[in-house]
Amino acid sequence: MRILVVGGGGREHAVIRKLKDNPCVTELYALPGNGGIAADATCVPIGAKDIDGIVAFAQDKKIDYAVVTPDDPLVLGCVDALEAVGVPCFGPQKKAAIIEGSKVFAKDLMKRYGIPTARYETFTCLDEALRYLETAPLPTVLKADGLALGKGVIIAQTRAEAIQAARDMMEGKRFGDAGSKIVIEEFLEGPEVSVLAFTDGNVVVPMVSSMDHKRAHDGDQGLNTGGMGTVAPNPCYTPAVAERCMREIFLPTIAAMNAEGRTFRGCLYFGLMVTKDGPKVIEYNCRFGDPETQVVLPLLDSDLLTIMQAVTEGRLADTEVRFRDESACCVVLASNGYPEKYEKGFLLEIPETVRSHVYIAGAKQADGKLVTDGGRVCGCVGTGETLEDAIRAAYDVAAQVRFENAYCRKDIGQRALRGV
Ligand code: AMP
Ligand code: GLY
Repeated sequence: MRILVVGGGGREHAVIRKLKDNPCVTELYALPGNGGIAADATCVPIGAKDIDGIVAFAQDKKIDYAVVTPDDPLVLGCVDALEAVGVPCFGPQKKAAIIEGSKVFAKDLMKRYGIPTARYETFTCLDEALRYLETAPLPTVLKADGLALGKGVIIAQTRAEAIQAARDMMEGKRFGDAGSKIVIEEFLEGPEVSVLAFTDGNVVVPMVSSMDHKRAHDGDQGLNTGGMGTVAPNPCYTPAVAERCMREIFLPTIAAMNAEGRTFRGCLYFGLMVTKDGPKVIEYNCRFGDPETQVVLPLLDSDLLTIMQAVTEGRLADTEVRFRDESACCVVLASNGYPEKYEKGFLLEIPETVRSHVYIAGAKQADGKLVTDGGRVCGCVGTGETLEDAIRAAYDVAAQVRFENAYCRKDIGQRALRGV
């Protein structure tokens, strides 16, 4: 089978490694992939947002199946365009990807169908937003409506901060057009849990739960990033919470999307907060999380391609999805200064002995050598019988990967060990 994966980060590297386990896969292409993914797939320099380029490539190479992983191409309708030329895909169509593409859509959906989430108001006019903020409870959370590289959320502790954030988003275009509409919502408290779930629109099959570490520095200090590390499973996701999530959130969401004529097929990411009033949705993503995927897929015992095809064909109920009863930890090595200013182009050295435990996010080939090429450079993954074992294994791998300006958080998994 000839398979195409759209995207080029650590998440895509994890997906590609897992797809390779299936002996039916004869050719594997990554568009655009990256210098590290090149060891596992043929990388072709076609950008993930170049829908016409992706479709032309798929036709030219007679691709049998495509996996579209990043948010941008999904929201732009990459799956629709590939399906229109007869290429079956893993990933939601445009009309379903809106669940991530528009926060206003997602919030209104939850309100209409009674799915627990933070209370909110939507604004398209700055003056109205400012008037609302005069009396809004603090802290308050401001979110740009559209995609903003996962950075369109501001938690304002003071009224002045909230006003500044609203101005930046709506007037200063801090997040481009994504901020022309904003959501202002209630600040929720409690541990966060990420749950990725396969769904074909009929059934929903949650994968092992995970915990992201979004802040740049130890102790959850510093700026929000794309994610500095993950662990799975998440100890806050107890069987009782899982049961409530299935009943109050997962099944109602699938039913709501069906009722709206927007059946979701693919991987639906539930960003949850376990509050004292029960689990609530912080956000939906229409795709695998990054770096959640790097801890979830290594624990998957069943064949990924088989599951993905079952999702596409609406046969998920009859397909085995089994996870190993172990733990995993991913420690992200980033370029010093990320998520703001950082240098790149440094030699990236990964010993052969740990190569299979490293997923490359930001690197390219230069003169036959691998050099850093992004803020998040790679994810170092360890698995083990216990969370402690997994954390130790991941940091062991990280210690062996070298580049000049590397930094990582030293406390990935510590909150999970404390159970909060
Ligand atoms: P998002 O991009 O929606 O995942 O938001 C980024 C981060 O902001 C989340 O992971 C939460 O830690 C935080 N966050 C978002 N919404 C809320 C909320 N209503 N209350 C508290 N924290 C929030
Ligand atoms: N790790 C969070 C995300 O993928 O959006």
